[in-house]
Amino acid sequence: MTFREKSAALHSVRSANGSTGSSSAASKKPVWEYAPSPEAKDHIEIKPQYDLFINGKWQKAKKYFATVNPATEEKISEAALASKDDVNRAVLSAERAYNKVWSKTPPKERAKYIFRIARIMQEKAREFAVIETMDGGKPIKESKSVDVPLALAHFFYYAGWADKLKYAFPNSAFSPVGVVGQIIPWNFPLLMAAWKIAPALACGNTVVIKSAETTPLTLYKLAEVIQEAGLPEGVVNIISGAGETGAAIVNHPKIQKIAFTGSTEVGKLIMRSVAGTDKKLTLELGGKAANIIFEDAPIDQAVEGIVNGIYFNQGHVCCAGSRLFVQESVKNLVVKKLKHRLRSLRVGDPLDKNTDVGAINSKMQLNKITELVNSGIEEGCSIYQPECELPKRGYFFKPTFFTNVAQSNRIAQEEIFGPVLSVLTFRTPREAIEKANNTQYGLSAGIWTDKGSKIFKMVGAIKAGVVWSNTYNKFNPASPFGGYKESGFGREGGLQGLKEYLKF
Ligand code: NAI
Ligand code: MG
Repeated sequence: MTFREKSAALHSVRSANGSTGSSSAASKKPVWEYAPSPEAKDHIEIKPQYDLFINGKWQKAKKYFATVNPATEEKISEAALASKDDVNRAVLSAERAYNKVWSKTPPKERAKYIFRIARIMQEKAREFAVIETMDGGKPIKESKSVDVPLALAHFFYYAGWADKLKYAFPNSAFSPVGVVGQIIPWNFPLLMAAWKIAPALACGNTVVIKSAETTPLTLYKLAEVIQEAGLPEGVVNIISGAGETGAAIVNHPKIQKIAFTGSTEVGKLIMRSVAGTDKKLTLELGGKAANIIFEDAPIDQAVEGIVNGIYFNQGHVCCAGSRLFVQESVKNLVVKKLKHRLRSLRVGDPLDKNTDVGAINSKMQLNKITELVNSGIEEGCSIYQPECELPKRGYFFKPTFFTNVAQSNRIAQEEIFGPVLSVLTFRTPREAIEKANNTQYGLSAGIWTDKGSKIFKMVGAIKAGVVWSNTYNKFNPASPFGGYKESGFGREGGLQGLKEYLKF
């Protein structure tokens, strides 16, 4: 396509109501159309099959499972299904590496390895982003500008701490935990791996980590990076599989610490298994965050924050702002602006650089979202979805919000983990606090107001691990993250994140 043709495509207009009929008012209003802008895939390498990465080598498993691209439903590759024996091999390899090498490696040498991993990842950033998007369905603009850079930042950040632990925890004696088992979910595969591996290595532990069943690929890419970085064999072992594999990690007697991110249901199972052992445990579980908009808030920015809070990564975000609390006096204005903004969200091919909302991660997750949305309709809430065409193949769901929601409705109580927002209202700050805290979860919250004093009052009163004010979903490796109540315990990120990987 020539430049002229491209710009002609970009500037072509169509009637606002597209092919759905015509009203004279709508047909006068032009809508800008985007030309397709697909990210190139020819620079990436995906093997047809991935073995387990144990003891620095690729090792065969007895069984393999397919991983699909949720945007096309096509199989991309196969990954090893680690059995109990495979888990045992991985743990023994990590134990050997800990005793023979890693526990004797000086901290400043550990730092060099972690830096090297970060640098090599950085060189392959584009490849990581494309594979993350293909395997999990998230928009390429997000994997490029959020997942991969933040994952890198975590390795850089914790590399910096490796030889400064005694300054982080002055006047205290501490040692590494030993072999740690890490289990991660499918919503931010590479990023969750970085959150877990980087502090573990910085503190001198060795690792067995398992990816989630729908998104094994970027972890195996990370295994290639780890190999290239020359990390001593067995220091990081990367495996794939489903719940049974995860349970085998949790129950292995030689594992000294479990770090889990995933559903509250599985978190509870893990807590039961670990009870009575001396294993350390951190759980980062579900959420149902309140995003609170006061009448004095900068409304346009707040609407952007609402959109970022719930439609980012199709709402597959544990800290998603899934319960919106709007002060009654501005409710109509906020809802009007939100509708307008939703109409401009582009849903579709995750590899297209202009896509805002990509594919739902799996058929199972799509069914769960659909079921909960139907419950909202049945319980009498009012649904809004913009008119937009979804791709014929793949798992997609329109960005959705509900008004007329009662706190007792399922959509206001349960984690939907999809692009679905419940809009509720309040009159006074006290009412906002009570409603925000009326949940089993306590992971995150958002506050939008012009008044600093109100921010301080709310931050102190809301029972949540992270409270953002006048922004949402902002992350930094120096800032700890974690929950209260059924959102789990323990912190990842920052100094607090180091503590979880040390024995004092
Ligand atoms: P899940 O909690 O089953 O999966 C998370 C990880 O745990 C995966 O790696 C999985 O293989 C592993 N796992 C499963 N059963 C296990 C067990 N018994 N022992 C050890 N590890 C085990 O979550 P799933 O089934 O993928 O999603 C179900 C719902 O959970 C979602 O709809 C969402 O609401 C919620 N979820 C929340 C997440 C969060 O970050 N808050 C992340 C993933 C899911
Ligand atoms: Mg997949």
